Amino acid sequence: MGKDVIIACDFENAEKVYSFLDKFTDRKPFVKIGMELFYSQGPEIVRQIKKRGHKIFLDLKLHDIPNTVKKSMAVLSRLDVDICNLHASGTVRMMEAAIEGLTRKDGSRPLLLAVTMLTSTDQESMEDDLLIKEKIEDVVLHYAKNAKKAGLDGVVCSPLEAGLVHENCGKEFLTVTPGVRFADGDIGDQKRVMTPAEAKKIGSDYIVVGRPITASSDPVAAYNRCVSEFVD
Ligand code: C5P
Repeated sequence: MGKDVIIACDFENAEKVYSFLDKFTDRKPFVKIGMELFYSQGPEIVRQIKKRGHKIFLDLKLHDIPNTVKKSMAVLSRLDVDICNLHASGTVRMMEAAIEGLTRKDGSRPLLLAVTMLTSTDQESMEDDLLIKEKIEDVVLHYAKNAKKAGLDGVVCSPLEAGLVHENCGKEFLTVTPGVRFADGDIGDQKRVMTPAEAKKIGSDYIVVGRPITASSDPVAAYNRCVSEFVD
């Protein structure tokens, strides 16, 4: 899969998602379904959006004992999603078990990404709450390398970390980056942001864009703008 724009469909119910997606009559965007929508609507929302012709990144960030993650990943694989993810802090063994669970009988599987350190965790909370005393950048890179070692396809990271991850884990190791804003847009609650053009320059493989598209008065135009800045 090449570079693409993934729309974070952070809506509270199915009707709102469908009426949003109905606006896209031309190119069918890649969509991200998060925990809120999945837990409220169940797996049926994934089947329905898939049936409408969209690729799906199911952002459920699994983290449990290896056996449970393996079995849960097998369920997600049967849902025919294109990308799913987990927490790298679950250990290399957990990530290897996830790959086993995801892999179908014919050898195919969805792409699997790792969340390294959540961007809501900073140096201070990592040290105080998790008792990890290393530099957060080093922890992020170590987790990315672990993900690569376990056979994962890439990481979800800040666009500011994408270059570093590629330098250390190789160009083929995917970086999927949220925190994208237009140069003339509102940054909202995101702290460290980049424009789609900057994310392209730094080497992000996919950008995840929510409110700059979903809250726009013309979502299709906002999406097309992202595509033209990032992909074309
Ligand atoms: O609306 P906005 O563009 O900020 O949406 C970004 C999406 O990416 C949201 O679904 C958010 O949960 C997700 N995300 C993020 N930062 C991370 C990981 C995920 O913003 N580090």
